[in-house]
Amino acid sequence: MKKTWGGRFQKSTDPQVEAFTESISFDHRLGPFDIDGSIAHVRTLVKAKLLTAAEGKKLVAGLQKIKKMLAAGKLPLDSSLEDIHTAVEKALVRLVGPLGGKLHTGRSRNDQVATDFRLYLRHAVKEVVTAGIELIDVICDLAAKEKDTLMPGYTHLQRAMPVTLGHHLSAYAFMLIRDMDRFLTAWDRADALPLGSGALAGTNHPFDREFTARQLGFHSVLQNSLDAVSDRDVYVDFLAAASTTQMHLSRISEDLILWATTEFGFIEMDDAFATGSSLMPQKKNPDVAELVRGKTGRVFGNLMGLLTVLKGLPLAYNRDLQEDKHFVFDSTDTVVGSLRTMKGFLSTVRFQREKMAQVADMDLTLLATDLADILVQEGMAFRQAHEVVGNVVCYSIERGKRLQDLTDHEFKKFSPAFPKGTADNLSVHHSVAQKKAVGGTSPKNVVDQATLIKKQSAEIKHHLKHL
Ligand code: ARG
Repeated sequence: MKKTWGGRFQKSTDPQVEAFTESISFDHRLGPFDIDGSIAHVRTLVKAKLLTAAEGKKLVAGLQKIKKMLAAGKLPLDSSLEDIHTAVEKALVRLVGPLGGKLHTGRSRNDQVATDFRLYLRHAVKEVVTAGIELIDVICDLAAKEKDTLMPGYTHLQRAMPVTLGHHLSAYAFMLIRDMDRFLTAWDRADALPLGSGALAGTNHPFDREFTARQLGFHSVLQNSLDAVSDRDVYVDFLAAASTTQMHLSRISEDLILWATTEFGFIEMDDAFATGSSLMPQKKNPDVAELVRGKTGRVFGNLMGLLTVLKGLPLAYNRDLQEDKHFVFDSTDTVVGSLRTMKGFLSTVRFQREKMAQVADMDLTLLATDLADILVQEGMAFRQAHEVVGNVVCYSIERGKRLQDLTDHEFKKFSPAFPKGTADNLSVHHSVAQKKAVGGTSPKNVVDQATLIKKQSAEIKHHLKHL
């Protein structure tokens, strides 16, 4: 295939070089956006009187036809075509003749790919955030449903204080909703048009770039052509948002993996969301959650990969930048896949409520802090109460007796400040019900949290429609 830049060359490209430098095997994903960008460019050319209205019409019709061919898998995409931009241009020339050669007026593949990739980014943000919001809604519904389900809360993976399962779940909803905000912020910063910057210096032609921007739904126009063709910082933002999201998903996964163990026994995975062993007939494994956790490595790697490609690049465009797409495509697919699979996993998992509550209730010392707070209410300094209850805890472990089963007589041995009926209000249930200050684990708070997040997720859904 004759190169679009062949005029200066007397030899054809070495096949090894052709295979090494091509990007069409992956940038074909930019195809629909490339065509949208070209249609907008044609209209800008007409407005600048570089094309007649009739020529413009013919080119737009050709491009629309190519879009259909692409969707139907009928656009030639072989590697001698180099990249999707060339593939579209060549197809256009085949369709409309030499007029197709006017399409690239005042444009370089440098501002073209920068534009295509931003249009893709908007699409990717929509896809990720849609999947994220669906997962968040599932988590909120579960949280509200499990507002009264008691379980031990952990620090250092040691039992710490009672919490509700709903509170534990809605913690993840808060993390993920911030992540969705990160993606939307990444898009806000990317929402500016590169096209019209040419190869690096701008264009000699009287392009109305605001007009181009409006056609493509960009809110503004990049003001420096060198910046427009050479930076990829907005994808760093996107990949950072993807990394934080995947990190949160890996933490959810880790909890689920632990909870699925016989030792915890807090969940029973649905058969459709678990896998077996080829050797051990009894196994039911949490591979879904493990893979979400494992794929986090890829997503972090993509962020580091792009940063490393960008580091030290001189202005303006360098071919290194072609590598940007692998990272962004891969992280988009991985995060969307993880969000959707996690939604399925959580929608089908069965929480073993009795087991959770029983573990919390049977624990000898889970209510130690509540016991210290009883002394604080009697006027004792918290530090002293901590010390006294520390001694009571040793006694309770020694005797194998839960704190809530100790008698007033036993409490008094440690401090006369323990009131009459100290154990009366010492229960897992009461402990949770008391955490009424905003942010605490009380059932009412859990419902408020779920309602708040659902409101935010509805707002984001609405926002996505206008993106
Ligand atoms: N495939 C290229 C990329 O993704 C398109 C831009 C090529 N520009 C150039 N000056 N060779 O970056």
